[in-house]
Amino acid sequence: MIDVHSHIIPGIDDGARTMEMALDMARQTVDSGVTHLVCTPHMHWGTFDNTKAIIREGYAALLESINAAGIPLTLSWAGEIRINEMVPVWFKDDKLPFLGQINNQQVLLLEMPHSNMPAGLDQLFRWFRNAGVQPLIPHPERNRDIWKQPEKIQWLRNQGCMLQVTAGAFTGRFGDHVQKIAEEMLIKNQIDVVASDTHDTLRRPNEMGAAFERVSVLHSAQRAKQLFVQTPAEIVAANSVAT
Ligand SMILES: [Fe+2]
Repeated sequence: MIDVHSHIIPGIDDGARTMEMALDMARQTVDSGVTHLVCTPHMHWGTFDNTKAIIREGYAALLESINAAGIPLTLSWAGEIRINEMVPVWFKDDKLPFLGQINNQQVLLLEMPHSNMPAGLDQLFRWFRNAGVQPLIPHPERNRDIWKQPEKIQWLRNQGCMLQVTAGAFTGRFGDHVQKIAEEMLIKNQIDVVASDTHDTLRRPNEMGAAFERVSVLHSAQRAKQLFVQTPAEIVAANSVAT
């Protein structure tokens, strides 16, 4: 499986705190059936002020340690960008790292606040599409506005967004309500990618293997392969910031 969302680079966000912890996460990720992991630290203005340079430096140290430990996992890096008014400026200044490409569009992991869907999203998404950027929205199933108005999921798709559901949503890690939303999204074919969004090995572990099995049962093995392997592989294959 190809996992496009993780917080494994140590010490630069709310994921791994130490290299030792990052190596444990990498081992757990391999045990879960993942062969390639994209490191996507938060780029959250005022909270986690990560830049491409900071991420690249942390990534290089992680890569070296994972290779030295002999862990059979390939890596690339990007970021999870929290929506804010500076994002279009960052794009123009080449400050945004992309997961890769799909359909000749650059794929950006673009996070909404957990509490709500901010005003002006339609303009932002239109602006991105015109700039050749394909937003991939992580974990819509955990957004409070979507809990109140589930029809917003289809609205996001109608805006041209791809949607990434978290593996743990299918294992019940975020509760029954989130699990129900994820399952309904699966049945309605509203999911493009499933990823772990792993932050540690206990509270937010990598559950890609268990989620793959669950999706295979709920829908089909073919759909599971598409969401956990094929679409993420297509995106990552074009990652120009892999090294
Ligand atoms: Fe994340």
